[in-house]
Amino acid sequence: MRKKIVAGNWKMNNDFDQTLSLVNELKECKNYKDVSVMISPAYPFLKTSVDLLENSSIEVVSQNMHQKKEGAYTGEVSPGMLKSIGVSRTLIGHSERRAYFNEGDEVLLEKIELALSSGLSIIFCFGEELSDRKSNKHFQVVKSQLDNTVLKIDKDSWGKIILAYEPVWAIGTGETASPEQAQEMHEFVRNCVFEKYDNSISENISILYGGSVKPSNADEIFSKKDVDGGLIGGASLSAKDFNLIVEANSSL
Ligand code: PGA
Repeated sequence: MRKKIVAGNWKMNNDFDQTLSLVNELKECKNYKDVSVMISPAYPFLKTSVDLLENSSIEVVSQNMHQKKEGAYTGEVSPGMLKSIGVSRTLIGHSERRAYFNEGDEVLLEKIELALSSGLSIIFCFGEELSDRKSNKHFQVVKSQLDNTVLKIDKDSWGKIILAYEPVWAIGTGETASPEQAQEMHEFVRNCVFEKYDNSISENISILYGGSVKPSNADEIFSKKDVDGGLIGGASLSAKDFNLIVEANSSL
């Protein structure tokens, strides 16, 4: 059985007090036993969030990490630092990291390898731009993003990987991929994993959809058979909306 997951990516939003109130509000939300809930606050507030959520089922995830273990990399955060404060999962490859910080396949592969060898699990994000979709290259672009990164990882590490398909044109734009477009890409991705490894890996990998998911469209997107949950940006900043999205992914 694949895990259902809803993860909130808070990006560069919320100061310390706002982080505390949102975490506290989420703690009070109903716990749907069949959905794993994750939140990703900014670096300075990770430890406080981990501590506040100690007795809760909500997991705290980092938004990024550096590709080197340690050293003279001013302003960066290593996987060892994350582990030392109780964070055991990180996002890698978010489209904003790719676009604004020039993270390409080569660096992303280094990050994936270092995260996994350091004992972190990952949510690996990928997805095409609008121009790729318009020129009908979206499958090709996604295949190459996967071939150059996660599909180079040994089979044994796949238990620590979650995939997140996030078409760039749908992130923060209010424009969502239709449930059919999401399903079609998720099925394609699952098949890429199957071709590289085997049925047990492809059937067990959770593939999240991200891009303007909100309470009003979550039900329809999550009802698709290859969509195992969502990576939520804007709507994860409201405890009420985020909780409605979690609820939409639960069958209980
Ligand atoms: P959005 O962001 O939900 O605001 O579109 C999704 C993401 O960037 O993960």
